Amino acid sequence: MRFSFIAGKRDAGRCGYSRQTFASMRLARPRTTRRLLSQLPAPWEATYAASTRAELLAAYEAWAPTYDADSVGSFGYAAPGAAALALERHVADASAAVVLDAGAGTGQVGEHLSRLGFSHVLGVDLSAPMLRIAATKGCYRELLRGDLTDRTLLPPGSLDAVVCVGTLTPNHVEDGATLHTWLEWLRPGGVICASIRDDFWEGSPLPNACQRLQEEGLWTLVEETESARYTPLVNDVAFRVRTWRKAVDCLASGST
Ligand SMILES: C[S@@+](CC[C@H](N)C(=O)[O-])C[C@H]1O[C@@H](n2cnc3c(N)ncnc32)[C@H](O)[C@@H]1O
Repeated sequence: MRFSFIAGKRDAGRCGYSRQTFASMRLARPRTTRRLLSQLPAPWEATYAASTRAELLAAYEAWAPTYDADSVGSFGYAAPGAAALALERHVADASAAVVLDAGAGTGQVGEHLSRLGFSHVLGVDLSAPMLRIAATKGCYRELLRGDLTDRTLLPPGSLDAVVCVGTLTPNHVEDGATLHTWLEWLRPGGVICASIRDDFWEGSPLPNACQRLQEEGLWTLVEETESARYTPLVNDVAFRVRTWRKAVDCLASGST
């Protein structure tokens, strides 16, 4: 495995928001999100409440050691497995496909992909502590600390697929320009497979941005899964996995 891990100095200190700021952030969120937030461990809450990049990095640094135990262990977090299965349905040859795990975190998606026979997976994430845990799992060809909104991070047309779980999220990545960037990194005919919470999707710029890419002929939505429970412990927070295929007559750069 090539490990292009930039173990730089810590990007931020601990989250510094006041109890009052936290309270006003909670009020701005949909009721279902507030209900789930009230049951989550503090580091998980902090990733949703982060309002700056420094706060987000600090939240993941604090959460990394217990992320797997909290998300899959205590909550039965279902999205990584569902996204990996969706990707398998839309990629012809798993063993040959070059796949980007966008926001790889501790490598949960990579573990599922590895079991399904994907052997050329690149994991990218902003958080060094999360990537350090992913590196112990032995399921990535390469791990790269980087910003998924940075267009220059990967060469155009270099990927067969992008899989993304939990990263198209408020305060993480939620703009159409980034989706366009990921399309540029894909070869024509490649797929983007993303798991997104329904409440986040509805309250974000993503539906319009995705529709625009479809109208511009840059990609086609090829599958949207049924809404499924985000965790067996909470009834009314759900997610779907959407898969889009990049137009085959697109230039590798993604422009028409
Ligand atoms: C909720 S975690 C999901 C991790 C993993 N995909 C999973 O399902 O367990 C979101 C991840 O996105 C990463 N992230 C957020 N914004 C990012 C960005 N702009 N570039 C790269 N990674 C980012 C965070 O560091 C974090 O590890």
